[in-house]
Amino acid sequence: MFLNWKNLTKLLWLTNIFLLVSCSEIFRTELPPIIDCLDENEVCSYRETIQPILNSHCTRCHGDLGRKDAGLDLSSYSSTMEGGIVSVGNHESSSLWTRVVDEINPMPPVYDSEMIHEDYANMIKKWIDNGALDN
Ligand code: HEC
Repeated sequence: MFLNWKNLTKLLWLTNIFLLVSCSEIFRTELPPIIDCLDENEVCSYRETIQPILNSHCTRCHGDLGRKDAGLDLSSYSSTMEGGIVSVGNHESSSLWTRVVDEINPMPPVYDSEMIHEDYANMIKKWIDNGALDN
């Protein structure tokens, strides 16, 4: 008979192995959370908010695996600042902000994905206006 004890144990082992492999795959690709900093008395941290936003929406084209579209590497504070896209204290002249809210020519590009959430754009704006710190 197919479903005898021996085969059943084998089947259970295979299921376990499958579950373990798929779980580790999920954990491997999980990104750190984006910490909300829009509350009035909060300061936006590069490490806890900005970098996680860039990691989940931008670095696949700007920084990961050596890919640097438009010469931009957004995978660290220093490389982001070197890109000339942050005008400290002035979000209006920072393309890091103007491009994520640009409805005609947004970042990420329309062929890739939807515009980032308005809250994320506001976090970037707040961080720039507060001095674009390495905090
Ligand atoms: C699918 C790939 C892709 C993704 C994802 C992407 N970009 Fe880009 N980005 C490009 C390409 C290609 C260009 C050059 C063409 C252009 O400016 O539209 C570019 C250009 C830019 C520029 C203009 C650079 C300059 O010097 O003028 C900025 C700023 C920028 N990206 C920021 C971002 C940010 C911030 C994100 C995430 C929110 C992002 N990009 C996500 C592909 C991407």
